[in-house]
Order: sequence, then C-alpha cells, then structure tokens
Amino acid sequence: MSQRLGTISLSPKGNESPYSSYFLKTMFGISQLPKNGLRVQGDAQTFNDLAPEYTEGNSVSGAQKKLLMSLNDGMLVPVKKNGQFIVKPAPDNFPHLPENEHCIMQLAKVVGFDIAQNALVPFESGELAYLTKRFDILKDATRLFIEDAASLCLVAPVNKGSDALSYEDTLNTLFTVSGQNRGVTLNGFRQVLFAYIVGNNNLHLKNLSLFRKPNSQSHFMTNFTPVYDVLSVAPYPKYYGDDLSLSLLNSELEAVFSEAYEQYGHYTGYDFIKFGQQIGLSNSATKKLIKQLCSAVEGAYEYIINASQCPDGMKREIKSHIAEKLGRLSRPYPVNLV
Ligand SMILES: Nc1ncnc2c1ncn2[C@@H]1O[C@H](COP(=O)(O)OP(=O)(O)O)[C@@H](O)[C@H]1O
Ligand SMILES: [Mg+2]
Repeated sequence: MSQRLGTISLSPKGNESPYSSYFLKTMFGISQLPKNGLRVQGDAQTFNDLAPEYTEGNSVSGAQKKLLMSLNDGMLVPVKKNGQFIVKPAPDNFPHLPENEHCIMQLAKVVGFDIAQNALVPFESGELAYLTKRFDILKDATRLFIEDAASLCLVAPVNKGSDALSYEDTLNTLFTVSGQNRGVTLNGFRQVLFAYIVGNNNLHLKNLSLFRKPNSQSHFMTNFTPVYDVLSVAPYPKYYGDDLSLSLLNSELEAVFSEAYEQYGHYTGYDFIKFGQQIGLSNSATKKLIKQLCSAVEGAYEYIINASQCPDGMKREIKSHIAEKLGRLSRPYPVNLV
C-alpha cells in the first residue's frame, strides 16, 4: 500500500523530491525531476487571460477554466494543439479545488477505479494547479473515440444535470450503447455510489464518458473512460445542495421516494439496492458491491485525506462528510424490506 500511495504528495517544497521515478516516467515521460522542480508557466491570472484564446474549438471544454499544455524543459506551457496535459487552477469561488480534486482522485484510485493520471503542480507563483494527462491520446498518437453521457443519452449539454434525469435511466442507456456490457453497469453503479460517499454532487452527464477503440469495427461503445473530474463539494456548502447531481431512481422524477428514504430523509443502502434492481443487478450482487466499496473507502479515506495537500479545515470537512455518508449507507433497512 505505501508504494501505491507514494505518489500522493506531488508538489515538491524546498528540496524535497517526493516524485517516484516510475511516476515521473509514466506521467511526464522523464526519468528525474528537473533541478527546479516542475512548474506551470506564469500564475493563475495569466492562465485565465490565455484560456479563451487557447481553448477555442478543442475537446476539453467544461465548467472550469483549463488549458492544454505540453512539458518543455520542466515547464508546463500552453499549446493550442495536441497538448498532452489538461491544467486547471482553482476557480474563483472554489479555493483549493486542485488539492481537493487531487485528493479525491487518489482515493478513487486506491478503492479500485481506473483514474485519469494526475498531479498537483505549482505555478511559478507557487499556487497549485491540478493537472491530468490525456487518456484519449494513445502512445502511437492515435486517438480514442470518446463520447460523454450527455451525447450518448441525447441530452443537450446545458441540461447535463437536469432535474428530469436519473442515474437509473442514464446507466440503462449506457448499458444499451455498450452492446449490453454488464461491466459498464457495474462501473457506473460504483461511480454513482462513490460520488454519494465523497460528496461529489457534480457527477452530471458530461462527467461520465465511454470510449471506443480506434479502428473498432463495432458501432457499440467499449467501456467507461478512466474517471475524471471527481471531487468533494462538501467543503463548499454554498454549492452543496442535493447529495447527487441527478436523481438516483426514475420514480423520484415523479416525487416517489423509497420507503427507506421516507423514513430516514436521505439515501441509504436500501436506495442503492433499488437502484441496482432497476439497472439489472441482482440484490446479492448489489449488496456485495456496496459492502466492497464502503469497506474500501472506510479503510483508506483517513490516510489519503491526511496525506493530501488540502488545508486542514478542508481535510476535516471531507473526512466528517465521508464518515456521515458511510453511516447512512450502513443504516438498517426498514422492517420487511429487502
Ligand atoms: N485526462 C483526460 N483525458 C482526456 N480528456 C479529459 C481528461 N480529463 C477531462 N477530459 C475531458 O475534458 C472535459 C473537461 O474536463 P473536466 O475535468 O471535467 O473539467 P471541468 O471541471 O471544467 O468540468 C471532460 O468533460 C472530458 O471530456
Ligand atoms: Mg467536468
């Protein structure tokens, strides 16, 4: 475990060099850290000034300002085309979001998700940026074909988190467009449950994507891409309204909530078992999935969050949020149910 966790503290301070050579090689294609460490050119302000000009027409639009970058002699510099890295500084209303996203991504990795490779790298001014390596550019420079769930479910991007959407419908559609790949259902179920546990109410249709391999003869999508844009909104109470971006179950769209929800006032394991039923999973398989993910998070979250670069207050808020959610998921089912 310690070896896997060895890449958590990625922003060198002073003379520290916490980067493992394996990490440097796979993430940046270099064998040792440059003398002055890695840096993102400029500061968050110059970054924001450049973003509109550099992001026009590329495939990484999203809610936050971001730039495609390449590594040039230890310096990450913006490029208009073929940048291997996507770099995001903290948005104005979300201080320390890069540290938050980096922390929750490490937790996702440790509990078994395939994640987009990522790191925290300081600007020349010292402020940290979140950086992810593009998974759609393959080694031989061919591109994976990626399609997000908004497009696959025929939902206009502006409606990506609409009240009229449910994860039940979304995962059933993704199952169909993947040629009935049960792996897609299982992975999707885990992503939704993980979002609930960590307080990520940002899992809308543009943050779920499937891929198809280049040269694939099949018109079906293959599987989920590695997960990206996973964070905890819990430390930003102004933005933490509902626990999830979409309704879990279709029935909720008609204001019908489960008996357990009515009793407790929030989702518990019972709602996720119902969710499993509605997307074609057996009750026993669903219970196993819930137990497995909750135990994995339980065993890792304090370590990962403590080791992260989030400020102490943010660490406390995320930890207490996760503890509360794990508690909810272990509430007894109402009598006579499941
Ligand atoms: N590592 C990655 N490789 C390839 N594409 C990515 C990667 N990370 C994000 N993207 C694409 O870029 C878009 C925006 O990135 P995201 O992290 O979701 O930013 P935002 O916070 O602005 O929504 C995503 O919807 C996805 O299509
Ligand atoms: Mg996004």
